[in-house]
Amino acid sequence: MAVASRLDTGRAFAKVLLPTLAKGAIVRRPPVEATAEKLQLDEVAVAAMRRFRDRYGPEPLRLRVTGRSIALLLDAVDVSRLLAESPSPFALATREKKAALEHFQPHGVLISTGEARERRRALNDRVLRPDNIDVPGIVADEADLLLRHVRSTGRLTWDGFAQSWWRAARRIVLGSTARDDDELTDVLRALRSDANWAYLHRRREALRRRFDERLLGHLERGEPGSLAGLAPADELREQAPHWLFAFDSAGIATMRALAIGGAGQAGIWESVRLWPTTPVILRESTEHTRWHGTWLPAGTTFVVFAPFFHRDRDRLDYADEYTPHIWPMPPDPGLVPFSGGPGVCPGRDLVLVAASTMLDALRDHLDVPTLRAPLPATLNHFRLSFVTRKVDDGR
Ligand code: HEM
Repeated sequence: MAVASRLDTGRAFAKVLLPTLAKGAIVRRPPVEATAEKLQLDEVAVAAMRRFRDRYGPEPLRLRVTGRSIALLLDAVDVSRLLAESPSPFALATREKKAALEHFQPHGVLISTGEARERRRALNDRVLRPDNIDVPGIVADEADLLLRHVRSTGRLTWDGFAQSWWRAARRIVLGSTARDDDELTDVLRALRSDANWAYLHRRREALRRRFDERLLGHLERGEPGSLAGLAPADELREQAPHWLFAFDSAGIATMRALAIGGAGQAGIWESVRLWPTTPVILRESTEHTRWHGTWLPAGTTFVVFAPFFHRDRDRLDYADEYTPHIWPMPPDPGLVPFSGGPGVCPGRDLVLVAASTMLDALRDHLDVPTLRAPLPATLNHFRLSFVTRKVDDGR
């Protein structure tokens, strides 16, 4: 088994893991995103990973960390094995994820195990099917209102987009009555920023209870036409915090898809391939597992750094280009923007419908200064801004 030198272990933390954490694992930090873009930190990270593979070969690379067993995956085939063999022996509920997500979703499926995980996963799979409710109708409605605002100001900015996207998200998850409940998502944002610090921030139980009660108030209405109408409120209240949180990523993916001139669901797929909104996928083994002929102990944390696999110029000749035709059946097992196997994102199809509806509604009305290949490794969505098309007649 390849074991990284102390220097390379330092490089893995300094160039790959810590910058990703600093950007904000649970809610992005705008100043860090801006610096990361200026320095193109994802390019630096991917280059470090490629050097590791050249130096140590394709097997998982163990980092030298006292008291912990941590392995970086360097082979795309190993990625598909790790995801296929989840949640056992490779648990989704790793200690880092628990420490972070317990701040706002202590009963979320992602940090659940055993029978509770199975039950919660089944609820997610059942409720998040995109044809359960009229997702395109809700999103098209909000896109229409957003376009009116954009025409009056002449510009679409991240802030304007995000307001409208959150309204759509609250309508989809909780119903129209929740559309304007900005406070709900503001409190969630406060809890998520605590979650960025995982163990290092104390848990604000009173704030979490306030969020939970407000959320439950919406869920108990069980509004038809929203996800809240599809299952009992006491089951939904455990999962809905994740759903609301994850809509943020879908909005980010939509704005980035606009920036590359993307269209339709393939535009969203490409956006999350080029700039994965879950850049690090973690698993923790529950038993000894054998990799390329050597054994790794139970309790090993496995790290999939998605930008490395998605932008690997040694293997993918389209690594830094917009290539929508590779979706939805990508030609490479390392392309995992929505994860894969039994722990694949259960919101994926709903996200693709919601985000592509918004993308397609906006793109024809905006002058999109399409980014050209090679596309940048880091793209700060907070600064994206598009002007309205001159030919738009303003109706
Ligand atoms: C661009 C948008 C999104 C992307 C790229 C994305 C990607 C992912 C990824 C990579 C995972 C695996 C995480 C891990 O193994 O640690 C995941 C899990 C999950 N996602 Fe998404 N997601 C998105 C949006 C959403 C939305 C909007 C929802 C709900 C409405 C959702 C629901 C979930 C749930 C419940 C899990 C946990 C699955 C489990 O533990 O089995 N996601 N997502």
